[in-house]
Amino acid sequence: MNERVSKNEPVEEISFDEHDELINPRADECDFDRVVESAISRRGFLGGVLAFGGASLLASTSSLVAPGEASAAPNRFGFAPVAANTNDTITVPAGYNWHMPIRWGDPLWSGVPEFDRDTLTADIQAKTFGDNNDGMDLFVDGDKQILVVNNEYTNRSLMYGNRDSGLPETADDAMKGKAAHGVSVVEVMENDGKWEIVKDSAYNRRITADTPMELTGPAAGHDLMKTAADPTGTKSLGTWNNCGNGRTPWGTYLACEENFNGYFSAADGGHEPSAELRRYGVSSKDWGYGWAKVDERFDVSKHPNEPNRAGYVVEIDPLDPTSTPKKRTALGRFKHENAEVLVNVDGRIVVYMGDDERGEFLYKFVSTGFYAEGASTDDLLTNGTLYVAKFDDSGRGRWLALTPATTGMKDEAEIAIHTRLAGSAVGATTMDRPEWVASNPVKAEVYCALTNNKNRGLKPNAGGDPTPVGGPNPRENNRYGQIVRWRPVGGDHAAADFEWDLFVLAGNPTVHSDDRSGSTNVNEGNMFNSPDGIIFDSKGLLWIQTDGNYSNEKDFAGQGNNQMLVGDPATGEIRRFLVGPKECEVTGMCWSADRKTIFVGIQHPGERGNSHFPDGGKSVPRSGVIAVRRDDGAQIG
Ligand code: FEO
Ligand code: CA
Ligand code: CA
Repeated sequence: MNERVSKNEPVEEISFDEHDELINPRADECDFDRVVESAISRRGFLGGVLAFGGASLLASTSSLVAPGEASAAPNRFGFAPVAANTNDTITVPAGYNWHMPIRWGDPLWSGVPEFDRDTLTADIQAKTFGDNNDGMDLFVDGDKQILVVNNEYTNRSLMYGNRDSGLPETADDAMKGKAAHGVSVVEVMENDGKWEIVKDSAYNRRITADTPMELTGPAAGHDLMKTAADPTGTKSLGTWNNCGNGRTPWGTYLACEENFNGYFSAADGGHEPSAELRRYGVSSKDWGYGWAKVDERFDVSKHPNEPNRAGYVVEIDPLDPTSTPKKRTALGRFKHENAEVLVNVDGRIVVYMGDDERGEFLYKFVSTGFYAEGASTDDLLTNGTLYVAKFDDSGRGRWLALTPATTGMKDEAEIAIHTRLAGSAVGATTMDRPEWVASNPVKAEVYCALTNNKNRGLKPNAGGDPTPVGGPNPRENNRYGQIVRWRPVGGDHAAADFEWDLFVLAGNPTVHSDDRSGSTNVNEGNMFNSPDGIIFDSKGLLWIQTDGNYSNEKDFAGQGNNQMLVGDPATGEIRRFLVGPKECEVTGMCWSADRKTIFVGIQHPGERGNSHFPDGGKSVPRSGVIAVRRDDGAQIG
């Protein structure tokens, strides 16, 4: 969800962050010492080289680029950039084409009715593709290709557009919402360049907010995980608000639970959840989903431990539709964006993860055991150490281990459950909303999209940690976002130390001439705001998806709809590849087995009522997955 800001807008139209802040207002960050300290550190960081943050930050980039890299071919993109626009369709470069094989409500089995928003029931929704697709990946089993796609949330005004209130009004309405969340597993096949769903495939599966899950890792069985329905604290029901994703070397899919808090409420409106739950934004008011009315476990006054069982990374075996998904508590509990999994040089598994909320942290998990192909992998996401990032202003940083000794917390289970509190305890760097993390396949270098943070330098995070301007978060009231990257010392992802710089500081050089103009690789022809999904292709090019302000006016004039760009880490050049339809975000991407198709997620077109994508006319807009191919049939990326 992007940054939609007005207290006068209905709850429907504001982001989860805005909702959390309305319920739990942050204090202004007015401490005099802190303001002075941040100003000094910012001056020190800029070093007086140039007045504008972006340009000087990028200056340090050159030292990280190997001499040969920048002078290679003129560009490696293979396409001419497309112009920003506000059309209610997809725009791709000349020589490319697109179609949309999968949409919200498409049946996965025969005999299930085709999509009709006004007659869609919970039962039908549970047998069809979920809503608001986000992260995804493709798995191959012999000659079969299976797409696994997160269904993050629903827009109530679209899902319940058949109700006068635009909200769930019946029990089936609320159950339909639960069934629209989760993960869709869908076999797909290509006929003459067009992809389609293979109905009745043995792989097809819907995982929803009611699917049984196994809790694993340090938090499993802990008292804080026990509920009336599960006195063992080892089994939970469902996954929801699955944002970005990950993929393990052993062929499983990771679905990351992000804004899990917005589904809990209390029949007793005066109920005050614990401080630990409030750190995650859990309150007596939900976000308009009404799940507690049909499923008491979402009533936090009656079942205060239930929210402790959400906010994890969920491992799913996409090739076994009977398998039980596993919540991996060792990877911590926060508003998980995605999970970037690597095999380190020594064989340990490293998972990089962002916590997407203003002023929250960036994490890394390092397994205790070592990966060996064919050997058991169950322990690798169960036992290990969680770290949180601390950036300094001079281009270096350090991973701080979260242990009972460093955090003062009682045991590993509490760290796994109250991970944000652990990060605060060790003084982690408060970030500008860490979204996706992506690892460069051609070198030991990792990128994270920091999407935006209007509170930077102005308000603390939900835990009261200050958000000083500086380091990788160099702009007060950051409306445009940036992408930070780091290189572990010695190419060892398990190492404590790293070097960092900014790959890009987004901005609008046609409107601003200060640091809001962006870094030197941002210009009138490629400008954008709010980088979110970032994914490397096999050549080491970085695909950048946006979820930002699409007003196309004022600070955002000329930037058009949300979009997808490609950046070259070696040269810093960025080109726009795709523009989405009105009021969508572009999120999630993967390749077909032959790499001739890229699948791209289009989420919430018309979230404010101004799109009829993809069917046009007066149709209900639908999220879905598009397939993009080259006219000449060549591979992409
Ligand atoms: Fe679901 Fe942080 O985006
Ligand atoms: Ca988003
Ligand atoms: Ca996102």
